[in-house]
Amino acid sequence: MANILHIDTSPRGERSISRALTSEFVTSWKDTHSGVNVTYRDLGRNPVPHVDESWIAAAFTPVEAHTPELTEAIKVSNELVDEFLAADYYVFGVPMYNLSIPSTFKAYIDQIVRVGRTFAITENGYQGLVDSSKKVLIITSRGGTFPPGTPYEVYDQQEPYLRILLGFIGLTDVTFIHADSLNLGDEPRQKSLAAAKDAIAQLVNNW
Ligand SMILES: Cc1cc2nc3c(=O)[nH]c(=O)nc-3n(C[C@H](O)[C@H](O)[C@H](O)COP(=O)(O)O)c2cc1C
Repeated sequence: MANILHIDTSPRGERSISRALTSEFVTSWKDTHSGVNVTYRDLGRNPVPHVDESWIAAAFTPVEAHTPELTEAIKVSNELVDEFLAADYYVFGVPMYNLSIPSTFKAYIDQIVRVGRTFAITENGYQGLVDSSKKVLIITSRGGTFPPGTPYEVYDQQEPYLRILLGFIGLTDVTFIHADSLNLGDEPRQKSLAAAKDAIAQLVNNW
């Protein structure tokens, strides 16, 4: 049984490109692979809480010393981490918002990047605790385009950030498919969407 954690982060519904593309990938994956279990989380419509003072106190206090208040404060995070670690594959739909990721996705990341659960601090430095054989697919949607080697490359604070962040917790097998140029006119938009759909079709058979 392969467990996929499928997360959408766009607040848009039918009009969301990232949502449509992650759905296309997961549907095709299920159609072509047996024994697939999908856990779906819709952060665009059901965001998780931001971390707060009691969350931080709980995260950095040994579990044995947790008061009932601290146990409660870290409960949602524990559930999210358990769900995250139970997955073998990750499919994330992530729009570019102001050069980076939607704040709903950042709130989720703050909940699941936890010392002692998804990373450790050792005498040799930081160590990711998530099994590095697990695969991540991130499908982004962007109004513009930020090709490597152009002056616009530095505006992409989405892929570099997510690669470093996921690597920090151990996940290094990360594939990006960018549906970009979405607000640059019909032709660039259609070309990019077709390329993204091709990439999805190829990955379904080779992931
Ligand atoms: C608040 C906001 C900020 C955005 N910032 C950027 C940006 O910095 N760069 C970009 O290329 N597109 C930007 N866009 C355009 C979106 O990335 C684009 O519309 C994308 O299709 C949204 O994803 P969705 O279709 O899955 O909802 C922004 C859109 C919104 C609503």
